[in-house]
Amino acid sequence: MCGIVGYIGNRQAYPILIKGLRRLEYRGYDSAGVALLNGALNVYKKKGKVNDLVNFIGDKNIKGNLGIGHTRWATHGAPDDINAHPHFSGSERLVIIHNGIIENYATIKSWLETKGHTFTSETDTEVLICLIEQIQKEGDLPIEDAVRIALTKVVGAYAIVVIDRLDPNKMVAARKSSPLVVGIGEEEFFVASDATPIVEYTNQVVYLDDNEIAIVSRENGLKVVNIQNEEVKIPIVHEIDMKIEAIEKGGYEYFMHKEIYEQPKTIDDCMRGRLSVQEGWARLGGLAQYKNKICNADRIIIVACGTSWHAGLIAEYLIEDLARIPVEVEYASEFRYRNPIISERDVVLAISQSGETADTLAALELAKKMGALTYGICNVVGSSIARATDAGSYIHAGPEIGVASTKAFTGQVTLLSLMALVLANERGTISSTQYQEYITELGQIPEKVNKALTSSDDEIRIISEKMKNADNALYLGRGYNFPVALEGALKLKEISYIHAEGYPAAEMKHGPIALIDENMPVVVIATNPSAHEKIMSNVQEVKARKGVVIAVVNEGDSEMKKIADYIIEIPSTLEPFTPLISVIPMQLLSYHIAVMRGCNVDQPRNLAKSVTVE
Ligand code: F6R
Repeated sequence: MCGIVGYIGNRQAYPILIKGLRRLEYRGYDSAGVALLNGALNVYKKKGKVNDLVNFIGDKNIKGNLGIGHTRWATHGAPDDINAHPHFSGSERLVIIHNGIIENYATIKSWLETKGHTFTSETDTEVLICLIEQIQKEGDLPIEDAVRIALTKVVGAYAIVVIDRLDPNKMVAARKSSPLVVGIGEEEFFVASDATPIVEYTNQVVYLDDNEIAIVSRENGLKVVNIQNEEVKIPIVHEIDMKIEAIEKGGYEYFMHKEIYEQPKTIDDCMRGRLSVQEGWARLGGLAQYKNKICNADRIIIVACGTSWHAGLIAEYLIEDLARIPVEVEYASEFRYRNPIISERDVVLAISQSGETADTLAALELAKKMGALTYGICNVVGSSIARATDAGSYIHAGPEIGVASTKAFTGQVTLLSLMALVLANERGTISSTQYQEYITELGQIPEKVNKALTSSDDEIRIISEKMKNADNALYLGRGYNFPVALEGALKLKEISYIHAEGYPAAEMKHGPIALIDENMPVVVIATNPSAHEKIMSNVQEVKARKGVVIAVVNEGDSEMKKIADYIIEIPSTLEPFTPLISVIPMQLLSYHIAVMRGCNVDQPRNLAKSVTVE
């Protein structure tokens, strides 16, 4: 939530900032702004998208080779021009951009008011920059000291960048619980919420840790200190491996569409080096050191949010079914506040595409404190969750920019399938024949996903045309396809704003059946063989009440054709891997419906990717 970017060097900052903000727009897009230093400190900010900002700036003075930019997802204060970042301090000497929440801002604000400060915005961020100014003024301090001392007084989460008009060769950045990356170029430095604004200028980055402050100056380069002012001697420089094509649309109208179609490759990438069909093995490097502990755990507890939580639910089916280890799946946000029972014999898996979700990170910290082994399943390399866990595996899906998660979900489920298989083999809960069957089938998943994409797209467009004006929709599935029903409903809600509910098919008769009439589309996911007959009965129940049934079935399912109104056929697979294929029509359906309704698919209203606030 909120994207921040900064530049100091010899080039003009403005084009770098604007390009960076466009890359970071997935993190928030209700207003945007830049500050540029060229003797004067010019701030331009505007409600709306980065394009609105660019139009607003027009031919104003954009000179300066030091600057910062921000794209906002509102927390404190409405999304308008005034609350947009950057924010000036009272004297307009300092300027700040901020991602996060200062929880004790009200107390600090009252104190600052006693010192004569007045505020123009409703934001916590303006309070922070005024606090920094007050501390700087009282102690006649350089900006880095004022920032550091101010941060000892705040409670909350932040990634900030501050510029001082009277110290024009320096930029100060700091983080706590919100991501911040420093890019190191030739006589130039970048700071950003992630590496995407930096990648075309340098592949050398330093990931700041919590409570660290980076002082980037033209004379002295990069210096990192902690909040106690102890220098971090040699910040570790990472080489990032991100291709520009991966963060561009490559001919697609929307990132989401591109990311849906990338899945055969991203699933393959996730399995590379972890599965050999020829040699008949599956392995996960991240598991190696802790395999025994995980195999003998009392429970595996999965913490995650949103789509990642749905992947967690599938993991519950997979791990219990194949490896016979008890699994509990928790919303990260609830877990941490319900005084959970965790012991050293538990293993906590945190699943997160961004690796920055505040609730998941906090749940993880709690589990660590209570002695559990923690394992991260993340997409973003070097992210906070990836670094905070004892061990973990990346899903290698590449940057996911569309706000609605697609390829990260299939990456997570692929990784969790591999994990279940490795654990099951280790524990001897499946026979070696079954193990080999699963390996062979997993190897075929990318090709089957490809087929599902190409063979179902036309039919899905026709169905989308029929569904696009619905006010509500019901998604039903059983067994492994129940979490897929939840995921289908979430995808539809978030990008097309049609109300949708996902339900275990058999639960329908305990309430939701009351909603069914001729206006209610019911998407039934019926690709898992063990539930087929039962789900046929559920479809009959829907048809008896005049519901419109859209059934996702395995190729050649002639029985369902007789009763459903619309059929989407996809390749069949072994039951544990059905979600990897049955989710594809869910993604395409929501995508096409949203486009037909004229929605901005990549930037749905009120949402942002990477939810770094509670
Ligand atoms: C839905 C979606 C969100 C995220 C959730 C968790 O399409 O993208 O529900 O899945 O915010 O995010 P991560 O996986 O980054 O922790």
